[in-house]
Amino acid sequence: MAALLGLPTGAAGLMASRLGGKPRQPLVWLSFQECTGCTESLTRSHAPTIETLIFDFYSLDYHHTLQAASGDAAEAARLETVAQGGYLLVVDGSVPLAHDGCCSTIAGHSNLEMLAQSIASAQAVIAVGSCAAFGGLPGAAPNPTGAISVEQLMDDGRIPQRPLVNLPGCPPLPEAIAATLAHYVTFGGFPALDALHRPTAIYGNTVHDRCPRIGFFYAGKFAKTFDDEGARKGWCLYELGCKGPVTHNACSTLKWNAGTSSPIDSGHPCIGCSEPGFWDTPGLYRPLATPTGVDATARSESAQRGQALYEDKCVYCHEPGGTDLPGDADAVPDAYAQRGGRAHRVQLDAQEWADLVEYLKGESR
Ligand code: SF4
Ligand code: F3S
Repeated sequence: MAALLGLPTGAAGLMASRLGGKPRQPLVWLSFQECTGCTESLTRSHAPTIETLIFDFYSLDYHHTLQAASGDAAEAARLETVAQGGYLLVVDGSVPLAHDGCCSTIAGHSNLEMLAQSIASAQAVIAVGSCAAFGGLPGAAPNPTGAISVEQLMDDGRIPQRPLVNLPGCPPLPEAIAATLAHYVTFGGFPALDALHRPTAIYGNTVHDRCPRIGFFYAGKFAKTFDDEGARKGWCLYELGCKGPVTHNACSTLKWNAGTSSPIDSGHPCIGCSEPGFWDTPGLYRPLATPTGVDATARSESAQRGQALYEDKCVYCHEPGGTDLPGDADAVPDAYAQRGGRAHRVQLDAQEWADLVEYLKGESR
């Protein structure tokens, strides 16, 4: 968890010692216009687990889905915590303002009334999910409920300003929620944030930066349909509308379900779910722009044969352009022979070597 948050060496021990024996931090979790996906995501966190969070670190005093109490007893628990103060407030879901807020009510109160009441004596606020952070699906055009984010409500002066962290995503990565909660209870504050109040340790890179398919992007190899040869070979999904290059999230590194997979790993483009207004992006499956791949038809026939060889046998281990190969492209056959070919399970004849070198020379120019 310390590594996930980009904390320095030794922070893990410090976190463990600070957490040990500390009274649990009260937590109120409000769910407004949402789908419960954010809570579903949190329940799949493995570092730390939700059990550790709510049994060791936090006193979860109010949460529609996870609390045992219901009705008046649940509302009484929330009001008691609010009266005592010193709690962390988590919000998932957007807040509807149209029609006097009647599109979403809880215990006879509009979401805005409940949020205003609950934030009054909160220490800080975490807006979990793209709905709470940016308006999300309910806020997509034509936004019939007048859905608005927590941050916008603060900026408009409708609720008091509090320290705020946004954890966008539809839903956010479970570790993004769990690690931010753990950081807050350990250090009494949030980790470093970007201009959109997102933790930089989690949202500092784009999905594209660390994508497992990025070699194919630079090689100009794009799947054109979901069932063509490129799709079967795991080529880049840019032309199928992938928004990875403009989406800040850690899906390519942390992945989902305890590091098992991600949308792109499973063959679907990133739809940009952690960016503001992603539902209104014109065409979830429309490419961002013309890709800057290499025009294969401009290559010699030998280089084209070399490219086919490279994509069949080499791209899984070596960077396109051969930048991680020892020396010039011309030196590749000799280097391979000197090593006895032990790291490779393929044998190339002289013509194939020549074709491969021709391709690598063009790529590294
Ligand atoms: Fe990966 Fe999408 Fe970037 Fe292609 S465009 S490398 S699939 S993030
Ligand atoms: Fe969302 Fe893209 Fe990750 S769609 S889940 S940010 S890969």
